[in-house]
Amino acid sequence: MKVVLLGPPGAGKGTQAQRLAWEVGVPYVATGDMLRRHVRKGTDLGTRARAYMDRGDLVPDDLIIAMVRRRLEEADCQGGFILDGFPRTPAQAEALAALAPPDVVLYLDVREDEIARRLSGRRTCRECGAVYHLEFDPPAEAGVCDRCGGALDQRVDDREEVVRERVRTYRRQTEPVVDRYRARSLLVEVDGSGTIPEVEARLREALREAGLLT
Ligand code: AP5
Repeated sequence: MKVVLLGPPGAGKGTQAQRLAWEVGVPYVATGDMLRRHVRKGTDLGTRARAYMDRGDLVPDDLIIAMVRRRLEEADCQGGFILDGFPRTPAQAEALAALAPPDVVLYLDVREDEIARRLSGRRTCRECGAVYHLEFDPPAEAGVCDRCGGALDQRVDDREEVVRERVRTYRRQTEPVVDRYRARSLLVEVDGSGTIPEVEARLREALREAGLLT
């Protein structure tokens, strides 16, 4: 099962992709998480990517495509994957088509006022990247990750002015990718409003209709 999850910042892609990948048993591949790990470790890629990420711009295609190619060539991705955050530009979509064409592209549709609510309350585990929301999906103990016990932080790029820039970047650079998949009948649009379990049920139904889930 090769699935791409697309949608604006804060639509719930990471939340849903992690759940689906765990249930289906394929790797969850998230370019944002991979980049944040590089930033934390201070690698050359992390150092180069950081300035783009902190201001809400996209990291250059050549860096991202090389990073994703290396990951998708690993043994555990040969049986499929759920991709979150890639492709985000037409050049990235071309690269994916050559590397591992997706079976389906799920598009999470969420209104902008809801995006702001979701991103302002998001907290992310510094250690394992697990995602929470102060109101909608809180951890059992405030500030502590349920999964690994790591400390929860607010992402630097979840500040209001950076969120506005990320949404502008999405409209300018990623909406053409959505249009491209729609034109090729690969896109399935899913209503991303409502609770996390409600959205998950809609995504599972979409995968069943695409013949990818029993
Ligand atoms: P990335 O990490 O991919 O950020 P994003 O696409 O902006 O997406 P988010 O992670 O912000 O949101 P999400 O849709 O995953 O929502 P989530 O599930 O967390 O990328 C960050 C940066 O890295 C980019 O800006 C760019 O610089 C760079 N980058 C990454 N990929 C790149 C690429 N391919 N090319 C170039 N640059 C790249 O949910 C949000 C919150 O809402 C959470 O708190 C969650 O608990 C809550 N929530 C989720 N669902 C619901 C629900 N149904 N109801 C209520 N709350 C909910």
